[in-house]
Amino acid sequence: MSTKMAAIGCGYWGPNLIRNFNSLPDVELATICDLDEERRNHMSVLYPDITVTDDYMTIINDASIEAVSVATPVTTHFPIGKAVLEAGKHLFIEKPMCANAEESRELVRIAEEKNLQIMVGHIFLFVPAVRKVKALIESGDLGDIHYVNIRRLNLGIFQKDANVVWDLAPHDIAMLNYLFDEAPLTVSATGKCYVQKDKGIEDVAFLTLEYPNNKIVSIHVSWLDPDKIRECTFVGSKQMLVYDDVSMSEKIKIFDKGVDVMPHYDDYSGFHLAYRHGDIVIPKIDQAEPLKIECAHFIDCINGKATPLSDGIMGLQVVEVLEKACISIKEGGCPQQLGG
Ligand SMILES: NC(=O)c1ccc[n+]([C@@H]2O[C@H](COP(=O)([O-])OP(=O)(O)OC[C@H]3O[C@@H](n4cnc5c(N)ncnc54)[C@H](O)[C@@H]3O)[C@@H](O)[C@H]2O)c1
Repeated sequence: MSTKMAAIGCGYWGPNLIRNFNSLPDVELATICDLDEERRNHMSVLYPDITVTDDYMTIINDASIEAVSVATPVTTHFPIGKAVLEAGKHLFIEKPMCANAEESRELVRIAEEKNLQIMVGHIFLFVPAVRKVKALIESGDLGDIHYVNIRRLNLGIFQKDANVVWDLAPHDIAMLNYLFDEAPLTVSATGKCYVQKDKGIEDVAFLTLEYPNNKIVSIHVSWLDPDKIRECTFVGSKQMLVYDDVSMSEKIKIFDKGVDVMPHYDDYSGFHLAYRHGDIVIPKIDQAEPLKIECAHFIDCINGKATPLSDGIMGLQVVEVLEKACISIKEGGCPQQLGG
């Protein structure tokens, strides 16, 4: 039995979703929608058998369409997502879920009321290297995670309607919530506008998140950096790990390094520190395409074979962090409580 789907938004990211959903054997991608004529013409050339429209209400009013993917700008996520759910269709919505927590909460409420699935496009949950990190954390190989340092830096692409926190940090927050199986307790942030100063859009920001069990995370996001860096360092009580998403062959390195507190043999009250410099292990990582896994997972969820890893609640939790991080920036770095 195949799922009849439609896709709204075919700008930069939408075509990737369209390609992957269309390639799934149990999906019939029936309609594609975009406001932009050039994008619609491009899609018609690529997919001559799929109906193309400029009005998403065509999709909403088509009772035969069971599920819709949305890859439009974040400010449009709420009205489009709400219309999709209210029409009784399952919703795959790109990250960040909505422009604020209130809108995200409302989508979660409607989906629950109508017994529909929401999945948010938090792609890093489907990246094989991230899944490897999760397996290593859960196996206890790293010990207790003390802290994580993340750098997601690049020169551009400068967004005009969202700051660097809303653009880049959703990936890291969703990844951390997935890895730790919990959401952060507080966030504080500082950020500055250098390039789009007149519009007040921050292009660099530093976030600090406190997770339960004394875990602290630092996230540095920037559109104003010389190098493309996507690097996460996990420091555990037993081992340390560096996940470098840019590296082709050494995405994960596990360092058998640490410091052990040893008692002093000649003084019962004293201690000394023993530094450990052991092996560095580079595990083999699968080459699977994360977006394909993500799209297939959504279809499995619709068919009752799985529950979304990145469901509406996770989407909401990510948006709450983004929203509170931006309040913290305005308040000069003042910590904000989350989950209230
Ligand atoms: N998961 C990822 O790694 C990833 C990567 C990039 C972008 N995204 C997300 O995808 C979404 C889209 O980003 P993008 O970079 O593709 O933006 P984009 O501006 O390139 O494309 C958005 C498209 O939506 C169309 N559109 C806008 N309003 C519409 C409406 N009412 N009806 C139909 N079409 C409409 C626009 O014409 C445009 O073609 C954002 O939420 C973004 O955060 C996710």
